[in-house]
Amino acid sequence: MTGLDGFPDAALLTLEDFRSADAPMGRCLEIARAACRTEIPILVLGESGTGKTLLARAIHNSSRRAAGPFVSFNAAALSDTLLDSQLFGHEKGAYTGAHKQLRGKFEMADGGTLFIDEIADMSPLAQAKILRAVEYGEFERLGSEKLRKADVRLISATHYPLERYAGSDGFRRDLFYRISGLTLTLPPLRERPNDLKALVASAILRAARLQGRSIDGLSRAAADALFSYPWPGNLRELDRVIHAAVAMTEGEVIEETSILVRRDAEASRPAAPPRTGGDDSLRAAERAHVLRILEEHGGNKTRAARALHVARSTLERILSASK
Ligand SMILES: Nc1ncnc2c1ncn2[C@@H]1O[C@H](COP(=O)(O)OP(=O)(O)OP(=O)(O)O)[C@@H](O)[C@H]1O
Ligand SMILES: [Mg+2]
Repeated sequence: MTGLDGFPDAALLTLEDFRSADAPMGRCLEIARAACRTEIPILVLGESGTGKTLLARAIHNSSRRAAGPFVSFNAAALSDTLLDSQLFGHEKGAYTGAHKQLRGKFEMADGGTLFIDEIADMSPLAQAKILRAVEYGEFERLGSEKLRKADVRLISATHYPLERYAGSDGFRRDLFYRISGLTLTLPPLRERPNDLKALVASAILRAARLQGRSIDGLSRAAADALFSYPWPGNLRELDRVIHAAVAMTEGEVIEETSILVRRDAEASRPAAPPRTGGDDSLRAAERAHVLRILEEHGGNKTRAARALHVARSTLERILSASK
């Protein structure tokens, strides 16, 4: 297992496995090929499920560091102490619960690639530490003053349009410039109409192989349903829908009834914010909007504030104002 979301070939994936007949993706792959030839830090942007993690892996596998380690680190939802000790390691007893010495991801990635996923979710303190580590290749384990060095190539990813947040209260501009030597933007699946057919075909092959099935193709109606769908969850959703379709198929041809997506494109758009009971004031609309964005971000105020381009304190003020 590779731990990469069930994608079976991730450990062997190279840039050769990525092809595109669509201009935005073609451009992204062109920059990715340049990224493989250099040691410049890479920032991978793109909506959730567009393949950022897999592309990062492929770049490592196609780079001069391929024989070195690929160490993956997810910065989302970690406290400062945990993030610190995960990234830089700690000595025994450095904090309550640090029962034994731990090597951090930076040390583990020495000679290879460190992949920091969800980098926009790091606290300002963590950002400052990362900046120093990537700028000078130097860091200390928590609870130790010994300066350590690691030769690490950094690839970061986020589904936020980070260039818009950089410099605002969310993300340090200096760190943004440091990590984005080359920026790769993975387009959403709806902007890859020419690739969709090949992506569906390879997803069917993969699902059939994994489920030990033999699938011959799709009915016309099933194909229409797949090709008219806007794929808000991108490649991850495509993979899931195809797996389900293969599982639902009894014969060798996938029928429309096995394609479990909302048929009307309208239905997959986010719903309009609920009207606030009779209150047409701008303030009520503002509060309703904030609530909706908060819900979209699973109740995470930091992320919601970032999406709204306001400080977290502003978001809290709006929420606590009575209707
Ligand atoms: N190049 C690809 N070809 C086919 N399927 C892909 C490709 N890249 C990704 N996928 C599918 O999409 C899933 C998600 O990919 P990945 O984890 O790389 O996306 P992501 O952009 O990192 O998502 P998130 O923002 O949620 O972390 C994979 O498990 C796989 O099923
Ligand atoms: Mg990912």
